[in-house]
Amino acid sequence: IKRIGLMTSGGDAPGMNAVIRAVTRSAVVENIEVYGFLRGFAGILDKDYKKFTYSDVGGIMERGGTILRTSRVPEFKVPEVRKKAADILKDLGIDVLVIIGGNGSLTGGKLLSEEQGIPVIGVPASIDNDIAYTDMSIGVDTCLNTVVEAMQKLKDTASSHERAFIVEVMGRTSGYVALMSGLAIGAEAIIIPEVPTDYDALAEKMWDERKRGKINSIIVVAEGSASAYTVARHLENRIGFETRITILGHIQRGGSPTAFDRILASRMGNEVVKAIKDGDFDVMIGLSKNDLIRTPLEKVLSESNKLDMEIVKLAGILS
Ligand code: F6P
Repeated sequence: IKRIGLMTSGGDAPGMNAVIRAVTRSAVVENIEVYGFLRGFAGILDKDYKKFTYSDVGGIMERGGTILRTSRVPEFKVPEVRKKAADILKDLGIDVLVIIGGNGSLTGGKLLSEEQGIPVIGVPASIDNDIAYTDMSIGVDTCLNTVVEAMQKLKDTASSHERAFIVEVMGRTSGYVALMSGLAIGAEAIIIPEVPTDYDALAEKMWDERKRGKINSIIVVAEGSASAYTVARHLENRIGFETRITILGHIQRGGSPTAFDRILASRMGNEVVKAIKDGDFDVMIGLSKNDLIRTPLEKVLSESNKLDMEIVKLAGILS
């Protein structure tokens, strides 16, 4: 293997830059050239790339976002578009394409390899933590810390005004961010797509807690379950105290990566180059019980990451 392509794709996630740095440096020391494509699959189609040296990726690990930039490319669902991308990669002499991104981006990669014979290696990066065969995706830990910090602030003002806050968090169809941030903040309720919500029981619980002297409530709602406005409508006529809504939005995707994300990204980035040297292609690097694993992309994409129902139960007990 002489030359690899590297791209970030789909929604950005803190820690993507740390992967770019780790892949590039691990490759360069093995005399493998790295071409970084800008804006994901769009950069391949536009032949928009930059050759990365060891020093080009200095000072980026601590930066949020992705220096390669990113995009969602719906046209990539069209086989002819994938053929065009594969032809460009072949012309450029790219032996392996490394894709840092979520399920959608990895699906694009899997198709490039299956149909066009481009060897691909995936690195899971998405704040949603909805990718199978990895305990954690890159960016999740930073996102959770951002969410918890924001909710802690909301708790302050909620207590002062004796209000209930309904906080909507991201996660696409997954309740992971909502569940884990809710557990970390001690939320009164966590509304997630994986578990049906009984609004009568929730309103009653909130009332009971008020009567016992609790002066604030935080209800976390995953965007894949309901909007904060819908939850507020369900509750407003049933609880007798003021509610406010906060939608955390894209703040959840920004910021300097935590130590956990930097370390995970560095390990996974290096594992990509080890997999390349082993000739282990069309796999995704994952974390399992703190070890790095490689799983065929096909297997990864045929499943979704399930929530741990023990943690759902725990959050219920502790709230
Ligand atoms: O997949 C990451 C994510 O942030 C989801 O949680 C969210 O539903 C989606 O991306 C938002 O996408 P966009 O940034 O394109 O609005």
